[in-house]
Amino acid sequence: MAMHSVAEMAASISANLKRIAQEKGQPLPVDLDNKDEVKAYMKANNDKHVGEWNQRLKRQKFDHVYKQSLWSGRTPIAFNFSSWDSSKQISKQNAEQLKQKAQQLAQQMLTPDDKPFNVMFEGSPGTGKTSLAIAMIDYVRHHGYRWGYIKHPDGAEKYKRYVDVLFLATDEMLELVYHSMDGDGQARNQLQQVVKFAKAADVLILDDFGTEGGMKGTIRPVHKTMQELMYDINNARFGKKYTIITTNNTVEELRVMYNVKLISRLIPTNAEHTLNFNGLTDVRSKML
Ligand SMILES: Nc1ncnc2c1ncn2[C@@H]1O[C@H](COP(=O)(O)OP(=O)(O)OP(=O)(O)O)[C@@H](O)[C@H]1O
Ligand SMILES: [Mg+2]
Repeated sequence: MAMHSVAEMAASISANLKRIAQEKGQPLPVDLDNKDEVKAYMKANNDKHVGEWNQRLKRQKFDHVYKQSLWSGRTPIAFNFSSWDSSKQISKQNAEQLKQKAQQLAQQMLTPDDKPFNVMFEGSPGTGKTSLAIAMIDYVRHHGYRWGYIKHPDGAEKYKRYVDVLFLATDEMLELVYHSMDGDGQARNQLQQVVKFAKAADVLILDDFGTEGGMKGTIRPVHKTMQELMYDINNARFGKKYTIITTNNTVEELRVMYNVKLISRLIPTNAEHTLNFNGLTDVRSKML
């Protein structure tokens, strides 16, 4: 309702208070003829609501983005740096170095004034790329914060919020693309949500990037819609948010699957941001 004068606003407040008191069967909380009392009451209640809202937002933030993650086989993975066991590798030193580098990069992601960058973990299957990437987002989730802003009638309030992280299994995302094109409304909604969160998350993992382009030897361009969505996601994030890519493919192979412009923006050019797992043992096959 548009307000035209102080008198109209006061009348509206009085009407609201009367209605609420009547609905609740309670006496009026203030004397409506006492303007100062009414003003103080409104301010106190407004502050209370803003405070509660603020608290609620802060609590929700810890999970509400991460909960939208797309996991392979719908199974979330939990992993942190202390779960990393370098003795699983023949070259213990190599495994230890990779962990340290991943830890350093995770710490850099929490340095407020750093310009966001992308990270790539490349190498053969079962060598721990996904595990270390999850350890990184676990670290930033538990150790960092970002500033958020809440607007309210008296201006804007700055508050600390959790770092939003999202895990996106690219093969699952392609499945959603296919299902939504087949007319599956639920898949379409989920895809829309995932893309929305993938654009906005402070740190995003694109896991197993390139599996959607087929097996080695039969690599082909990825479905047009998937390419477009990846392009939109990366466009929204480039230079503003951190993206961690894990892949079994070489950059040349990724260039066959996706538009070269996307690949050149997605793949880090800084050697410090690329971790190579190729010399490592396949831990997964040893567990079977
Ligand atoms: N250093 C390690 N310490 C403890 N567990 C490990 C380590 N390396 C790998 N693993 C375990 O081995 C399995 C495979 O690891 P992970 O999924 O991270 O490999 P990956 O490199 O992502 O493989 P892919 O390329 O197939 O996706 C997981 O269960 C993981 O927890
Ligand atoms: Mg993996």
